[in-house]
Amino acid sequence: MDKKIGILTGGGDCPGLNSAIKSAAQKAMEHGFSVLGIRDGWKGMLDISANFYLDAGNLQNIDSTGGTILGSSRTNPYKDPLGPKTLEQNFMALGLDALIAIGGEDTLGVAHRLYSDFALPIVGIPKTIDKDLSGTDYTLGFMSALEVITQSIDQLKSTAMSHGRDFVVEVMGRHAGHLALYGGISSGASLTLIPEHDFCLEKVCDLLQKRRNNGARYSITVISEGAKAINSELSLSSSKKDAFGHVSLGGIGEALALKIEQSTGISTKSIALGHLQRGGAPAAMDRILGYYFGEAAVEAILDKNFGIMTALINNKINLIALSQAVGILNTVDIASLYDTKNYRAKGTL
Ligand code: F6P
Repeated sequence: MDKKIGILTGGGDCPGLNSAIKSAAQKAMEHGFSVLGIRDGWKGMLDISANFYLDAGNLQNIDSTGGTILGSSRTNPYKDPLGPKTLEQNFMALGLDALIAIGGEDTLGVAHRLYSDFALPIVGIPKTIDKDLSGTDYTLGFMSALEVITQSIDQLKSTAMSHGRDFVVEVMGRHAGHLALYGGISSGASLTLIPEHDFCLEKVCDLLQKRRNNGARYSITVISEGAKAINSELSLSSSKKDAFGHVSLGGIGEALALKIEQSTGISTKSIALGHLQRGGAPAAMDRILGYYFGEAAVEAILDKNFGIMTALINNKINLIALSQAVGILNTVDIASLYDTKNYRAKGTL
């Protein structure tokens, strides 16, 4: 009988997914498996009609491209009471010996539940530009998104300088400030506001005014989409929720820019980098780690080691229990990394 594995990508797409898909598929084929590409995350395990086989032809050169050739969605099979059972039946009907789920907190949360509830042979690979999964030092997509943030802010600086104008740049990251913090460092931002530390609006204005008084022609404030003002006087633009119950974030940067201009009189524009952060060709780091994570996932399958996720720990590829990855969000450690007086990464000027 044929040996077969499935691969799916769920949640927000990001550069690096295709590299992991290619590496896992190639390694699996080398070991005699046929490889089924599951369409649009968990959706393709509930409706199996659009799934397709991966081969040397459709894998060629995908590692240098962004997005995911498998498609993605935020489908939560546990939302429908019949979902999990249907999924288990489809798993059997497809004749899968194992499934590689590439995703973040939500996709891997489902993987963990399916492993616990039905002992389905699943291996996870971590991806999310938010880098908020626990138990791994890296999640695919983070460096590529950081590159977009860095280059975008570099581009803003010349116009900011020419017009003597401030910018507030809103970045993604949900409830974790990693993208904002490291994007702030790499782009030389003046202030960085992150969800892990509520900011005081008055203080933000004071710090920006002080920079002007000291001769700065412009300031760039990087704000994470999940950041909040202490008294919540600034709010988000939407209360829409996805299938996992997450509220759709966005809008805090625009609200902040308005307040800054009103209180200081400094001309201030805002820009939300939005989904641009998830686009483009993958950074080398995402291609390389995608490659190693893909290989490690197939090695785990060969060892019949399931309910686990590949992880980068101290520069080494490792395996950890899925339960360890999805239990608690990995957020910025304020004590060691954030300067709460000056609203920026600790140790930066
Ligand atoms: O989790 C990745 C992420 O890009 C978050 O940073 C962001 O809040 C969210 O996804 C946006 O989701 P969507 O693509 O569904 O709008």
